[in-house]
Amino acid sequence: MAPDDFETLARLLRRRSGMAVSRDRSDMMRRRLAPVMRRFGFSDMRAMVAELRQGNDHLAEAVTEMMTVNDTCFFRDPAQFAWLQDSLLPRLVAARAGQKRLRIWSAACATGQEAWSLAMLLDEMDLVRQGWRIDLIATDFSAAAIARATEGRYGAFEVQRGLGGGGKTRHLRNDGGQWLVCDHLRPLVQFRRFNLLDSYGWLDAVDLILCRNVLMYFDAAARADVLARMADTLAPDGVLMLGESETGEMMPAGLEAVAGAGGVYRRAPSVMRRVS
Ligand SMILES: C[S@@+](CC[C@H](N)C(=O)[O-])C[C@H]1O[C@@H](n2cnc3c(N)ncnc32)[C@H](O)[C@@H]1O
Repeated sequence: MAPDDFETLARLLRRRSGMAVSRDRSDMMRRRLAPVMRRFGFSDMRAMVAELRQGNDHLAEAVTEMMTVNDTCFFRDPAQFAWLQDSLLPRLVAARAGQKRLRIWSAACATGQEAWSLAMLLDEMDLVRQGWRIDLIATDFSAAAIARATEGRYGAFEVQRGLGGGGKTRHLRNDGGQWLVCDHLRPLVQFRRFNLLDSYGWLDAVDLILCRNVLMYFDAAARADVLARMADTLAPDGVLMLGESETGEMMPAGLEAVAGAGGVYRRAPSVMRRVS
């Protein structure tokens, strides 16, 4: 790929998604984008990039979606879900016993398995029947991912990856060889499209934010900006959960690690709220 075409694509991805792509990924980028190029009727990469420079938004969206990784599974990083189940959720339920309300945000939820896994935990705690209001918002900027997440239909392999043991028959029903999320979970989750680079003004005092396995693809500035604004969006005793392996250089400013839980942070006491 010509260097100036690569630069145009890299800038577009950074601006639209926060993603950083280094020059040595140029071949991978060309391979990944070949189907988009064909779908939009371009004979070569140069012509497609020229069209992007003209501001074709539809094409820019397809290119961005094609370049993002949206692999996920039910109960990904089981130790983190065990900590949510055994430690965080019981603590939040005790702390919110007065208002009986929980606010949870699954940010960059991909095809929804993370949010449905949480819904399974919450359902098993039987909170709704006890009068609790659960706001579990799950977002991703990919329209295709959100459509799949909302439908809640998964293939046998996808279900096997995280729900191999029990669970699946209680919360998913077999529908023509595929698995469909059962009706009792559906009122617990609201899916919507949302770009992590946009304003979080519509979210406030969130008890738990999951932002797992996405910021590792962002450049340092975009990552720091997202983390600072997420810190501001948390309730004073809320927590942010990154991917289990997203520690070290990902250590966010304004947040401090929670001992005993991989990738989990809470607001550092000295941090003042900003307007996001
Ligand atoms: C690897 S998946 C992670 C899914 C899930 N959180 C997990 O850990 O299994 C990354 C997701 O981030 C989404 N994504 C990437 N950049 C984004 C952005 N700027 N705003 C919202 N979603 C984004 C992608 O569409 C993709 O679905």
